Amino acid sequence: MLNLLLFRGRRPATLVGIAFILSTFLLIVITPPGSETIKQPWTTSRILQSPLNQNQNQNGTTANVSLTADRKIHILLPATKSNVNFCKTLLTMTILGYPSPTIIAWEDKDKAKGLLGGGSHFAKITRTLDYINDPVRRSHPGFDDELVFMLDAYDIWFQLPLNMLLSRYDAIIEEENARVAHRMGRAYNNEGINSKIVFGAGKRCAPNLLNSVSCYPVPESPLPNDIYGGNTDTLIGINGWASFRTRYLNSGYTIGPVGEMRRVLERALEKLKECQNRKDASFDDESGASDFCYHGSDQSIFVEMFGEQEYYREVMRRHHRTGMDDMLDKVVPGRAGSKPPPTDVQQAPIIDRLEPGFTHQKYNKTHLPDKPFEFGIALDYWSLLGHQTSNALTDARYIRHSRLLKPQIGKQGNFECVPKTDRLPLPLDLPGSQQLPWLAGSYPNEWETMPLYTEICIGTVPVMIHHNSVEKYHREEQWNQTWWHGRSRMLLEERRKEGAPQLHEGIPTDKGSVVLWEDLCPKKMEKELFREPEPKKVEALQTESKITDATKPGAVQPEIKVPEPIKPEPIISEVVQPEAIKHEGIKPEDTAPEAKALEVK
Ligand SMILES: *[C@@H]1O[C@H](CO)[C@@H](O)[C@H](O)[C@H]1NC(C)=O
Ligand SMILES: *[C@@H]1O[C@H](CO)[C@@H](O)[C@H](O)[C@H]1NC(C)=O
Ligand SMILES: *[C@@H]1O[C@H](CO)[C@@H](O)[C@H](O)[C@H]1NC(C)=O
Ligand SMILES: *[C@@H]1O[C@H](CO)[C@@H](O)[C@H](O)[C@H]1NC(C)=O
Repeated sequence: MLNLLLFRGRRPATLVGIAFILSTFLLIVITPPGSETIKQPWTTSRILQSPLNQNQNQNGTTANVSLTADRKIHILLPATKSNVNFCKTLLTMTILGYPSPTIIAWEDKDKAKGLLGGGSHFAKITRTLDYINDPVRRSHPGFDDELVFMLDAYDIWFQLPLNMLLSRYDAIIEEENARVAHRMGRAYNNEGINSKIVFGAGKRCAPNLLNSVSCYPVPESPLPNDIYGGNTDTLIGINGWASFRTRYLNSGYTIGPVGEMRRVLERALEKLKECQNRKDASFDDESGASDFCYHGSDQSIFVEMFGEQEYYREVMRRHHRTGMDDMLDKVVPGRAGSKPPPTDVQQAPIIDRLEPGFTHQKYNKTHLPDKPFEFGIALDYWSLLGHQTSNALTDARYIRHSRLLKPQIGKQGNFECVPKTDRLPLPLDLPGSQQLPWLAGSYPNEWETMPLYTEICIGTVPVMIHHNSVEKYHREEQWNQTWWHGRSRMLLEERRKEGAPQLHEGIPTDKGSVVLWEDLCPKKMEKELFREPEPKKVEALQTESKITDATKPGAVQPEIKVPEPIKPEPIISEVVQPEAIKHEGIKPEDTAPEAKALEVK
């Protein structure tokens, strides 16, 4: 290769040659050696751990937490009506002191046949856009820089407060931009790439077809590629997806500045108009899986936008390279902007990310000015904001971090990840042994002694638990494993005393109305919401109080329930309309027609 350069050069060939050799030598000396893994994640080496555990050498546990006071956030909950699951979401937000949300799509009555939730999934796009485009709001100076945070209203619980959500959002953005800058090389600055929108992430490219542009250009997961040992990223596991690392977009929640979100949603709306009557798409697998936007899935639209974004990021990477880069890459592995290593989707190999070897949806590789497919979408790979339970039920437990891990994890299945340490340190943004005054004297009152839903494979304590697993009964089963169990009524009353507007004035909707808390979450729901011991039966009360150590420091810890083995997961189907809950007992195929096509036997 060196020879090649020297022969080609004309008069100053020797000079160029010497300069080349010298610079190459220098680069080799200053570049750390790459790891010897076969399938390297597309990362810079410093991003091999969660953004929050990198500052290990910093003193104290208070990594920089951004102040929330001066940041305005609009929290949008798409919900056509209330039910107990909606109230669980509201309750957790309220006791943690989140600002009042706005309910969008309230009392909407979409009833399109054959579409998920009667077409209500699309409300996440249309109603959020309506909110963002409201002329009165838009006339407020600075509105476009405020944050908008939209999340599923029936299956998300909050366990950490807003300042952590915001500082983690910042951390994700910072990490993502470092990673993408490395991946794209020169193109990153030349094209002005800068991600600002964060979506959730999951293990499946779903419901989209793997051979479509939604899936094959998607970058590797930055998570360690040994979390499930030799099973990692293979079909070996409790089902065909459980051993994969988190890599694909999930639209259970999204957060970002209003202005950027508007661009994302306006494009999503365009796509919605294109695909809602679509049939027999050229890239369909002949099952009709992709018809009608994958039968009314808002997620399919965002997944496709992310795929296109990544396709064109690769186009841009190539566009800004020179012949010199090709040569240097051969000498210095892992340079910024170098050719990405081979990858695969669900084990289908991909050498060329724009043209995989398998039958695929063809896309135009022409570099376009103005980066029309770039939306600055980043994913929450580390589940710092939220953890998707779909195909990941065995990856998480409710853990008290001050205690040994093993007894709390309980019996593990053959395919589960094995935590590498006896204890899992709390993430650095959680001050472990600091007493939390807002727990109003109830116990446990420190993060490290409370049972926190924890992703034990990578050690993340997410802000949100997103129960998007098809096994919706976990919303009942786990409700009493959380730190608020046994004291949620008291904590809610504390917030009422503080004057939380949700509890006093009610919650505003996009229909201009305000719904009172008592109407959203009436008395009859309180039995499930608070799960207080029945006062009548003395016996029951005694057993219950043994379990809920809400008021007693150092009380006996309850047996941690080990998640049961799981069937393959189809696509999430209930997002905006609570009716879909009725599908609980129904087989996956029935709730999500597209699941049939994707299911691996
Ligand atoms: C960090 O902690 C160490 C040991 O606890 C202490 O000696 C050192 O002074 C601290 N550094 C700072 C900057 O606080
Ligand atoms: C943390 O905050 C301090 C004080 O505001 C600042 O000097 C420092 O650069 C910040 N560190 C990081 C890593 O952002
Ligand atoms: C790709 O896009 C470019 C620019 O829009 C256009 O000129 C070209 O004809 C397209 N190529 C194909 C194969 O469609
Ligand atoms: C928690 O609730 C579930 C579902 O109601 C119940 O089956 C389980 O026994 C409860 N666990 C404890 C420790 O109370």
